[in-house]
Amino acid sequence: MFTPDISLEIHAFSLPIVGEIPDWLNGTFVRNHPVRITKDGKPVGHWFDGPAMLHALSFDEGRVHYSNKFIHSEIYDLLFKKHSLDYPGFAQNRDQCAFKKLLSFFFPSSIQTIQNTNVNLTKIAERHVALTEVPLPVEFNIKTLETLGVLPYEDPFPKRQSFESAHPHYNQETGELISFFIEFGYQTTYNVYRIKKDQLTREIIAKIPVKEPAYMHSFALTENYIILTEFPFRARPIDFILQARPFIFNFNWKPESGTQFIIIDRHQGEILGQFSTKAFFAFHHANAFEKEGELFLDIITYPDAGVIRDLYAYGLPFNEEEFKSKSERYFTQTQLVRFKVSLENKNIDSEVILKTPLEFPRHHEKLDGKPYRYLYAIDPRDFIPGDLVAGDLRQINDKRALYKIDLNSKDFLIWHEVDCYPSEPLFIPSPHASDEDAGVILTLVYHAIEQNSFLLVLDAKTFQELGRAKIPQKINASLHGQFF
Ligand SMILES: [Fe+2]
Repeated sequence: MFTPDISLEIHAFSLPIVGEIPDWLNGTFVRNHPVRITKDGKPVGHWFDGPAMLHALSFDEGRVHYSNKFIHSEIYDLLFKKHSLDYPGFAQNRDQCAFKKLLSFFFPSSIQTIQNTNVNLTKIAERHVALTEVPLPVEFNIKTLETLGVLPYEDPFPKRQSFESAHPHYNQETGELISFFIEFGYQTTYNVYRIKKDQLTREIIAKIPVKEPAYMHSFALTENYIILTEFPFRARPIDFILQARPFIFNFNWKPESGTQFIIIDRHQGEILGQFSTKAFFAFHHANAFEKEGELFLDIITYPDAGVIRDLYAYGLPFNEEEFKSKSERYFTQTQLVRFKVSLENKNIDSEVILKTPLEFPRHHEKLDGKPYRYLYAIDPRDFIPGDLVAGDLRQINDKRALYKIDLNSKDFLIWHEVDCYPSEPLFIPSPHASDEDAGVILTLVYHAIEQNSFLLVLDAKTFQELGRAKIPQKINASLHGQFF
């Protein structure tokens, strides 16, 4: 029997508020959360394969209501109705023979299953959707969090057996979304596409053949360019068919080929160049922009892709101590690096902006792809998606901080509270404000001693608390959130 960390689903619960929530804040803050699963008290599976749960905080004139609900995916049914872990995921596989895999790869079923969309969220054609790294977003009702079904793309592009970025760039002003998918087959290709406002059609901007595709969790966008950062964490497409192993285990670290920046003209789709730098890995691009003919990319880098395996199974065989020391080791090695790509001189410079361990970077959404000054992030060390031991926490609680980084001065402000573990910070601008940091920071904070969570609202300028609202259950180690 598999037990989720959170089983209670709550609807529109009015939260008690300490301090003040700005009354101009109107909308819904939704976070996507791979819920940890245990069997006989021990965690099973990879953190990234937990069943998706959405948490929504609705703001209305200074009041906050909380709701949460699982995405009703095929995996949800398997886990909780059939008590089976036999599903394909990021780091686990369906138990299937090679011949059947081969058949299903080339002759995919027309049945579009509801995937375990547990990574991110966005809007497509005015519909709210949850995303993971497979091609079909899952639509949900923003008011009830009810799963509405697979988003019905109206295009001929892959609807199965492809990899899709869970980090599209959505422009709030134009409604345009830009993202990419990898189509596996006789000739594997990176496909960069756009979806125009109110459309359900992916329009290909550029198609790039690739022999051994890389695992790329996110990518960069500027006003005129799309940049795929191709890490040397590559897979042979044939292995997805023939090897009976989980998706991510088909990728191998090949540092000798370095990390490549593939620069694409955003308007014409032309490949303008491929620039190589020394090998590194990353999950998240912080932002990118153009200035005086040069491209700047801010990326949270890891020395290699070992972090992925270390997030596996919070140990299979389960060993929490080992997991802790590995995650400590990997997250300690993250650096915020600014890469400068000169298209004319065809060279790359890099500068470490901050050596402090950082993850889950966010910025003012209107400055996506444009010069910007402030970045918000968390220190991810001991980002353990499970129960934490109070004694351990007291030794490490200084690590779980929220950061506001001034990229001009490289100074930073910190929010930190004993035994409290914040998740990705989201910046919401005040209405009619002109300063880049005029607004609030929203995040969910897990209180490890009280075993519950709270919504934290900070003044983004001062990083001082404005208010908090206690949620009647714990939400630990959620991934990404958006404000709708
Ligand atoms: Fe991500």
